[in-house]
Amino acid sequence: MISFDSKNMTFRLETPNSTYAIFVNERGYIGHAYFGAKAGDDDLSYCARPKEYFYSENPVFREKSSFLDYFPQELPTDGLGDFRQSALALCDDQGHNAVELKYKSHTITKGTKALPGLPAVFGTADDSSTLEITATDDILGAEVILVYTIFEELDAIIRSVKIKNNGSKNLFIKKALSLALDIDDDNFDIITLHGSWARERHIDRHLIHMGKQGVSSNRGETSHQEHPFIALLDHTATYDSGRVYGINFIYSGNFIADVEKSQFNNLRAVMGINPENFCWKLEPGQTFDTPQAVLVYSDSGLNAMSRTFHDLYRDHLIRSPYKKAARPILINNWEATYFDFNTDKLIDIASEASKDGIEMLVMDDGWFGKRNFDDNSLGDWTVNENKIQGGLKHLVDEVNKLGMKFGIWFEPEMISPDSDLYRAHPDWAIQISGREPGMSRQQLVLDITRKEVEDHTYESVAKILRSANIEYVKWDMNRQLTDIGSADLPADRIGEFYHRYVLAVYRLQERLITEFPNLLLENCSGGGARFDPGMFFYSPQIWCSDDTDAIERLAIQEGTALIYPLSTMGAHVSVCPNHAIGRVTPFKTRGYVALSGTFGYELDITKLPPEERAMIPGQVALYKRFSDLVRNGDYSRIASYSENNEFDCWASIAKDKSKALVTVVQVLYRANYKSRFIKIKGLKPEATYTISWPDENSKDFPPLKLTGRTLAAAGIPIRRDWGDFQAKLIFIEENK
Ligand code: DGJ
Repeated sequence: MISFDSKNMTFRLETPNSTYAIFVNERGYIGHAYFGAKAGDDDLSYCARPKEYFYSENPVFREKSSFLDYFPQELPTDGLGDFRQSALALCDDQGHNAVELKYKSHTITKGTKALPGLPAVFGTADDSSTLEITATDDILGAEVILVYTIFEELDAIIRSVKIKNNGSKNLFIKKALSLALDIDDDNFDIITLHGSWARERHIDRHLIHMGKQGVSSNRGETSHQEHPFIALLDHTATYDSGRVYGINFIYSGNFIADVEKSQFNNLRAVMGINPENFCWKLEPGQTFDTPQAVLVYSDSGLNAMSRTFHDLYRDHLIRSPYKKAARPILINNWEATYFDFNTDKLIDIASEASKDGIEMLVMDDGWFGKRNFDDNSLGDWTVNENKIQGGLKHLVDEVNKLGMKFGIWFEPEMISPDSDLYRAHPDWAIQISGREPGMSRQQLVLDITRKEVEDHTYESVAKILRSANIEYVKWDMNRQLTDIGSADLPADRIGEFYHRYVLAVYRLQERLITEFPNLLLENCSGGGARFDPGMFFYSPQIWCSDDTDAIERLAIQEGTALIYPLSTMGAHVSVCPNHAIGRVTPFKTRGYVALSGTFGYELDITKLPPEERAMIPGQVALYKRFSDLVRNGDYSRIASYSENNEFDCWASIAKDKSKALVTVVQVLYRANYKSRFIKIKGLKPEATYTISWPDENSKDFPPLKLTGRTLAAAGIPIRRDWGDFQAKLIFIEENK
């Protein structure tokens, strides 16, 4: 519920377990009063410390800059005395940078607000409401609307900012962040996610120090390296206890997420489009919308934060018809064949896979142009009939005859210098005229911000999809943006390029899912560099990482699941030694780790050792039995190898608490012959559950019966298997 107290000029946003309060002071500054555990029905304006320190009733206001430098602001601006990290910087046509926002009006409406050209959470008049606070800087002629959306059932606040030029001269937006949060430091830690190619989203946690700290991308996409997420949390917070403020960004391009601890021990967290290399020209009458940032509060640890993000994204951001549905178990030929395949090879793989219950063949990179390596043909989206003998429709029909679906790989945003497209349109590549553009993976990026390039790109993909019964697309993106220049953008708009690029990606994918509404779209970027909530608006699943090793995947999937539902995490079983890192792990463990994602295979099934091949039907049966629980249940992290140096454990618990699937992976075995007790929290304390080991011999692993209370308090004994990389699945079901 959102309410306004006109006497005390205070707004309250009430979620089930939190209160967020905004206070407008006598001078019209929009201050942040409170965000945290549910507060009583009191006037919370005092929490903004409205009259302390440098506040003055004197209209001359001789300490204005000092006041601005401590006052907690909802959208801090540049140039007038708040020297902390700002969230909005506007420049007038004379080059002045000052912005001063004063409250003008507000509206509170039911439902959510769509954002033009951007992904945005959606809800109904019954489950959501939106507050819009309008503020103006009359000298600039700027109007700024702070937009806050909440959902009845979720401890989340979704924020964005709309900037309008109501004046008669151009404005230049130099910084337009989506969110700022000013809170007192209480010995908080910060969590961020870091990585590299094949090592995405590893959790990093440390105490917040004085000054600025944070993460960013200026690579044109979200990136493998840093992720648009920060959590501020009690130093003692665990998965199940302590205060956590989690912040995430519904966007797929350059971002910053910073926390600054400043002179009076207050923390300011900000998140938004990276202002580096950003400048947006706003002509009179024009409007600019920032993407949405999501703020989640939990006073019971990280698991509750994760569950709020998961529910928000599953219920209010993913639109695909697959969002709650089972995904076809796929077999992808990338790690099986790389570029070396043809129709017969693919049909062989599909035919063997279909015998084991695998449901879809995905043809990866190398089916088009003259591509047998990564140095050519991107942009030439015509079927290479030397490899795909008989044509694409023939191949798809043959796969369909096996009872399987067919999926295909594209990298639509790219152009190889060795391609017919480049020979015809060398200017279509992003480049700075007069400079040789830098190559990465031997390819350049198409300037899809240009309408004719966007249209050509769309048609290249769509015409292939129209030509056969293709039910899945893997949309890849294998390099980052450099050499930013565009034939269509004048000098005073080149700072708009990165954002325009992201908007073009969104437009392309929107067109795709509009023309092919039942298509299962999986985004990918050299593994997981575009694993972000912006892409959820278009695709219900995203390839997590090019590292398919089950042990490396533990940290990658743990960091990913901290924010994103398991239903979104692309995860496949591949061969050993693993192609990315050379490790050898049991086939069973590889299967269990992939079962916590979308599940599929990425191997040449025709060459698999017979003992591994024999395990596939059993894994398929496990997926069929448990995938609904994994996709739609509540995720709960129980133990983390990165903390305990021995084992990982997580669970998916049904929303009605009637069942749970627990996965344990013993990474390193140590000479310790006692069983390990795993405590499962979140079941019904009074109910009795049967605990079974669905993939083990029931003679050696007889079922147990325990109450929910005992499961949380004492736990289940798990045998330590001899050897590294061993795994167990445990199924817990209520006795009714
Ligand atoms: C990077 C992806 O992450 C891989 O899965 C594969 O599709 C290759 N690109 C193909 O070039």
